[in-house]
Amino acid sequence: MCILHVVGARPNFMKVAPVMSSFQKRNGVMQTLVHTGQHYDHNMSMLFFDQLEIPKPDINLEVGSGSHAVQMAQIMLRMEKTLLDYSPDWVLVYGDVNSTVATSLVCAKLGIPLAHVEAGLRSFDRTMPEEINRLVTDQLADLLLTPSPDANENLMREGISQEKIHLVGNVMIDTLIRLLPNAEILWENGKIHNLTNDRPYGLVTLHRPSNVDDPSRISSIIEVLDGISEELIVLFPVHPRTRERFRMYDIEPKNERLCLVDPLGYLEFLALQRHATFVLTDSGGIQEETTYLGVPCLTLRENTERPVTVTMGTNILVGADLDSLKHQVNEILNGNPKLGSIPPLWDGKAGDRIAEAILNSSS
Ligand code: UD1
Repeated sequence: MCILHVVGARPNFMKVAPVMSSFQKRNGVMQTLVHTGQHYDHNMSMLFFDQLEIPKPDINLEVGSGSHAVQMAQIMLRMEKTLLDYSPDWVLVYGDVNSTVATSLVCAKLGIPLAHVEAGLRSFDRTMPEEINRLVTDQLADLLLTPSPDANENLMREGISQEKIHLVGNVMIDTLIRLLPNAEILWENGKIHNLTNDRPYGLVTLHRPSNVDDPSRISSIIEVLDGISEELIVLFPVHPRTRERFRMYDIEPKNERLCLVDPLGYLEFLALQRHATFVLTDSGGIQEETTYLGVPCLTLRENTERPVTVTMGTNILVGADLDSLKHQVNEILNGNPKLGSIPPLWDGKAGDRIAEAILNSSS
């Protein structure tokens, strides 16, 4: 059997790693890894391949950045040729990025069986590009591999037949469980921005258009972070898209305890999450990783496609209101963090369940 995996952007890499290694343990499976090149900076891409021990991609489509239409069109053009050359038995796509949906469209047109890892998540907010990507990909996929029961409910409500849906659990957590010990070694060696257990800090990531594209919004957020950094160090690894906005709008923090740094590797960032007093984010995956780690997470968004992190985990949706953000940070600093538990099937074995589901669907 010939399986072709497609990844393109940073959050895809921690999902493909366990699936590839689960297939590797099984006989008679040939795997091909295609990187679309959506993310291309070393610390957004190859650093992750090294740390996660993902094999070097067999093909890099090198599409790079562009408007959504340009980026997706480039992926589709180059992907069609690749899929015709390789004619795989299954294509696996991951998450909700532009590479995911562009590949799904090409597979559907060519009639190549498509499996979607992390299917069924919904924010019900169609202003987010990722929501469009999720909706379209799930309509086209032949096998929908879901992380939590809410995802199954969403898919059934959208008319997708139950036989196609398999609840496999959270595959990103497989990678976290495998690599947490390595991250802890880095932490113990005190190698990460000189932070140690006796220097409390908050960890921030923001890159969504709703937070960073409007100059007055992002300036107000930085002002609030400046204020919070009076209380504790705030470390903010800055996504390239956010860095570009800071440059365009001439934004700089005032307080030197608000530290803007380059994007970090997987192990460094995992260690920082594990030891943070709180994490403030608009990412999807970080809401899940903090829930697993039991670290308070404040999500600067109106909605989440990962509701289980709120109902069971440590995640609080702060919404857009920055006063509410200040209030929630104070709650944590005053010793009242939200406690949570780990959702079922976030157990390090989702990669194996995915491999089984695909092999069973082919027999
Ligand atoms: C993409 C995903 C988003 C995910 C995020 C994680 C889509 C629609 N969005 O957003 O869901 O949460 O990845 O990082 O697919 N850039 C670089 N170097 C890179 C990559 C990007 O400088 O290696 C800059 C470019 O200026 C580019 C911008 O970042 O225009 C945005 O990159 P893009 O891949 O379009 O989307 P992300 O914001 O990274």
